[in-house]
Amino acid sequence: MTAQEFVPPDADLEQLRAAAAGCRGCDLYRDATQTVFGAGPGEARVLVVGEQPGDQEDRRGEPFVGPAGRLLDKAMVEAGIDRDLVYVTNAVKHFKFTLPERGKRRIHKTPSRTEVVACRPWLDAELDAVGPELVLCLGATAAKSLLGQGFRVTQERGRLLALPDRDGVRVMATVHPSSVLRARNREEAYRGLVTDLTAAAHALR
Ligand code: URA
Ligand code: SF4
Repeated sequence: MTAQEFVPPDADLEQLRAAAAGCRGCDLYRDATQTVFGAGPGEARVLVVGEQPGDQEDRRGEPFVGPAGRLLDKAMVEAGIDRDLVYVTNAVKHFKFTLPERGKRRIHKTPSRTEVVACRPWLDAELDAVGPELVLCLGATAAKSLLGQGFRVTQERGRLLALPDRDGVRVMATVHPSSVLRARNREEAYRGLVTDLTAAAHALR
């Protein structure tokens, strides 16, 4: 399984977005509403990578527009990261979920390693098209997609690293905003996210 054959070569973001709408690189397109491609300026200095679209993103076709996105926006403002400089996307572009019972809310399921690897050509194409200085990985799925299966966010969060295979591009992993929303001590988890994002913002100056 791979998205590779669906990715047009040397395409700009609009061409990529149009092509991604028809991707069948793995089975996740079957049950999801639509492909949720990245969003933001093509000349963004920062590229943020989440896990996969959530329920609201799946319905609206835009990344980070639900509760996790609102928390991320707030944390970025506090960290001094200008949202106009940021392109946001996900490691996997279709929503993976289970339907527990009829009429119940769809429940997010973590994408498998196979699905993350299958979707990676879209992320590479976005990195090529945007050419960011800094990549921010939110949570383990994004971090493992770009930094390898052995990467541990809990141990290496907040560190500025070199992005493999891309000269001069830096990368930082931090926690996913959804994990902040689920944390027992939500305020502490939120402060930790803002601390990491602030360190990332300093790297841009
Ligand atoms: N969580 C993500 O990882 N990405 C989104 O777009 C929304 C929620
Ligand atoms: Fe293609 Fe990624 Fe969607 Fe799978 S999740 S169908 S690889 S866009």
